Order: sequence, then structure tokens, then C-alpha cells
Amino acid sequence: MRFSLTFRVRFSALLVAVAALSLNNAARADVPIVIKFSHVVASDTPKGKAAERFKELAERATKGRVKVEIYPNSQLYKDKDELEALQLGAVQMLAPSLAKFSPLGIREFEVFDLPYIFPTKEVLYRITEGPVGKELLDRLQTKGITGLAFWDNGFKVMSANRPLKVPADFRNQKMRIQPSKVLEAQMRALGAIPQVLDFSEVYQALQSGVVDGTENPPSNFYTQKMYELQPHLTVSNHGYLGYVVIVNRKFWEGLPGSIRVELEGAMREATQYANAIAQNENDRAMEAIRKSGKTVVHQLSDKEREQWRTALAPVHREMEARIGRDLIAAVNREAAREAARDGTKDAARKPAALMGR
Ligand code: LMR
Repeated sequence: MRFSLTFRVRFSALLVAVAALSLNNAARADVPIVIKFSHVVASDTPKGKAAERFKELAERATKGRVKVEIYPNSQLYKDKDELEALQLGAVQMLAPSLAKFSPLGIREFEVFDLPYIFPTKEVLYRITEGPVGKELLDRLQTKGITGLAFWDNGFKVMSANRPLKVPADFRNQKMRIQPSKVLEAQMRALGAIPQVLDFSEVYQALQSGVVDGTENPPSNFYTQKMYELQPHLTVSNHGYLGYVVIVNRKFWEGLPGSIRVELEGAMREATQYANAIAQNENDRAMEAIRKSGKTVVHQLSDKEREQWRTALAPVHREMEARIGRDLIAAVNREAAREAARDGTKDAARKPAALMGR
């Protein structure tokens, strides 16, 4: 049987196309999918270690089909650039602090910045692992971002060139904060002058006197060597600092389904790891700060802590319009449920996991 020229030409073209496609697929199978994971803290921190764990789990789960490249300590992008880099697809994954989303126009994440809003880590996890956390992650979708998980760091301490024992000690102190209106209101309620700076600029700003003090969990305070520049630290645990792990939405939805499922499993395990190590990493950092002898560590008396709580209480009401009264109420309801459960349970709880201890 003779085939027409047209048929023969078209059939050959089809063969060439199929060959090219399979070659391309084969080549693609050999070329790993690269996830650039950029963050701003040292590797030896809860977030730094969790990022490394995710890399290990993700590369194992996908049998090398995915390669995770981690860029810690603002090596690739600083605070002010990283979210835009993610939206542009210049990096695929970040884990910014929850206090850094208002520049994107998502104010609700600042609920995590409210002073003393989480009485315990249990209340925090019920929020991040429950419907409130899911609803917050969903808000990221409109910004071209997919939220994957919440990672814990811990409760913040305050540091300065002078002892910060009572609110009056904050008067006119220039205090570095993250870009959060709640943290701005917090510092003003204490009589301080808030100064938003990238995390990578804090050491230099403390050294040059651009700011007098700052706040962060001990793990950041220690790994950024702030203890070399801050003669006084107060174990206030006045506020919380955690992260949301995010990816570029187009990249994530463009992944082969099987790969995405494997990465979701790796992220679940990395999240369990992150939350399991956070308290211990911060306790370890606090011990190292004490041992350095360069910073006087102050504990608050019950009376002093009450003065902080009284001075900071108005921030909740002041921020209702910005964050959403319902959202704040949802967190407070969870706290009330926990308190009720506590009432029926043995009161002996690990003090470090309790706010304001
Ligand atoms: C800060 O900017 O103080 C923190 O968000 C740094 C971090 O990511 O822990």
C-alpha cells in the first residue's frame, strides 16, 4: 500500500515530535526541580534547622527529583526584598516572620504580634493548626502565594543599653521592630520610639546607636550576637515570634501532582520538627547568653510583669479595627478554653512554655 507524500511527511513530523518530547521529558527527569529557600536568620536557629530538615526530607521523598537550595542569613534576599522575590518567582520558598505580611496588605497576621495574646504554646498551636490558621493561610492566595505551614520560634525577650524592668524604663528608647503596626503600638504603649529595620541591619544599628534596643526570641538574639552590644536583657516573654512557610503559588501549582504530595509530606514532618525543637533551642540560647557574661539577664517580678501587662493591654483594643475584632476574639476564645481545661488538669506546667514567665 502506497501512502501519499503528505501522509508520509506528516507521519515523520509526528515521529520527530514524539522523539523530541520524550527526549525532553527524559532530560527533564534528569534535571532536578530546584527550590530556592531563602531566609534571614542564622542556620543554627529553629527556622534555620527546620529549613535544613525540610531539604533533607524533600530530596529523600522525591528521590532527588527535587533539589532544595537554602540561602540563610539574608545571603540572597533581605526582609524588604524577599516577598517580592517570591512573588516574581526569583525564589520559590520563604519562611518570613508573621510580623512581616502587612507590607503585602495582609494585616491579619499581626494578631500574632499582640502582647500576651497566647498564654501558652498549646493555645498558639490550636490557632495555627486549626481553622483560624487555615483561614489566614488562604488569604495569601490572592497575593500569588501559597502558605504551607506555621513554624514556631518562641516568646520574645527585650534588650537595651539600660535595664528594662518597668514601662517607665522604655521612655524615649529607640527600639527596633519588625514592620508591624501592632509592634509599633506596643513600643509606643511602653513609651518607646519604634524603628522598623530589616533583621540584617539590627546588629549594625545597635552598634552605631541608631537604635537603643530591640526584641526577639533568645535564639535570634544569640545567633546574631546582639548580646555583644546589649548590656541588659529582660526575660519578658511579652510577645510571640513565629513563621509561615510560603511558596510561589504558580510554581507550587505547576509541580507534578506526585511531587507536590511528596513535598507536602516532607513539610509536615519538617513542621513537627520545627515545633519540637523551638523551645529547647531558645532555652539553649538563653543559657549561652547568660554564660557569655556580656549581658545582664533580668527576670520580672510578678508586680513588674503586671505593670507591663497593664501598659500593653490597650494595644488589643487599639488594633481591633486593623486586625479584626472577630479574629482577636477567636484567639481569646481558644485561650479561655485552655484555661478551663487547665482548671480541670494538674496545674504543674512547664513554666517556660507559659507567656510572661
Ligand atoms: C526579625 O526580623 O526580628 C525576625 O523576623 C527574624 C526572623 O525571621 O526570625
